[in-house]
Amino acid sequence: MMEKFLNTITQGDCVKLLKKLPNDSVDITFADPPFNLKKNYNSYKDSLKVQEYLQWCEEWLTEMVRITKPTGSIFVHNIPKWLTHYAAFLNTKVDFKHWISWDAPTAPMGKSLQPGHYGILFYAKNIKQIKYYEIRHPHKRTRKANILAKDYGGKKNLLHPFGPLVSDVWTDIHRIKHDKFRDEHPCQLPIHLLERIILMSTDEGDIVLDPFAGTGTTMVAAKRLGRQYIGFELDEHYAHITKQKLEQEQSISKIGKSWVSFYLNEVVTLRNNDWESLKDFYYIPKNVEEIDTTPIVLKTKMSVIKLPRKIMNNKQVLLFK
Ligand SMILES: C[S@@+](CC[C@H](N)C(=O)[O-])C[C@H]1O[C@@H](n2cnc3c(N)ncnc32)[C@H](O)[C@@H]1O
Repeated sequence: MMEKFLNTITQGDCVKLLKKLPNDSVDITFADPPFNLKKNYNSYKDSLKVQEYLQWCEEWLTEMVRITKPTGSIFVHNIPKWLTHYAAFLNTKVDFKHWISWDAPTAPMGKSLQPGHYGILFYAKNIKQIKYYEIRHPHKRTRKANILAKDYGGKKNLLHPFGPLVSDVWTDIHRIKHDKFRDEHPCQLPIHLLERIILMSTDEGDIVLDPFAGTGTTMVAAKRLGRQYIGFELDEHYAHITKQKLEQEQSISKIGKSWVSFYLNEVVTLRNNDWESLKDFYYIPKNVEEIDTTPIVLKTKMSVIKLPRKIMNNKQVLLFK
């Protein structure tokens, strides 16, 4: 039964489809459900009564927990309002690991406390068995002077050449703002957001499942990183776009033997354990303190450059070189 769903997108209701999968069968599950905010989806009405919405959420959350392996993780993306309910429910079933705050600011619109972040709940099926890797992101630099945004004072000699370990507040991944990078979907996530999650929680060949695939962000990220994937999506049109996108993707987001996440031409997430082999691919100042003013650069342009562009469904999609 599992093979039927593997490395493909299946159109249908995720609650019904999840029930077809065996217990403990996928490595991670990631859900980005409709937020019940009256978003304009093709075939799903995003406006249930609160109790109805929460009851429905408990159905797919229960299935996600059931099918995740004991070494696996469960991730759920939503606004804080709904995550408080999810957390209360998941706390009774699996082990809390982190509440990641994804800083995605909106323009100030004359109100205080405007929503400025989304949350990603991160649970372990079993905290004693979880597969988990430390990850790093590049140093944040000031826009004009290109020096480190953070003042390391007298501790510059301790700087990591690539950048710090990622904390539970993610400020370096922006929402997709430009239409040319979007499909016809109201709330598509950036691919490198999913790549970060996949790099910290899975190995090559592991299975990543997304019950609300949209236009396939999770699956594209999994494929680029050499993982297997299972995607479910209610809407036929979104499922079709996902299928077409997946056909264009290849598992080549790596440098040497290490899988990494690229955004444009830069590596934006890597595993801490991989740095020893990755560092040879960079020009790094001899004196580590110079990193304050001199960014490290890749010796050759080996990034997953998405050119040339190709028109698909009147939308531009990005292809590997
Ligand atoms: C927030 S969007 C996911 C976007 C996705 N993360 C992406 O980056 O493209 C939620 C998606 O869930 C789909 N959906 C709604 N109800 C569903 C159901 N019962 N089963 C499967 N998919 C469903 C909607 O059509 C929508 O595409």
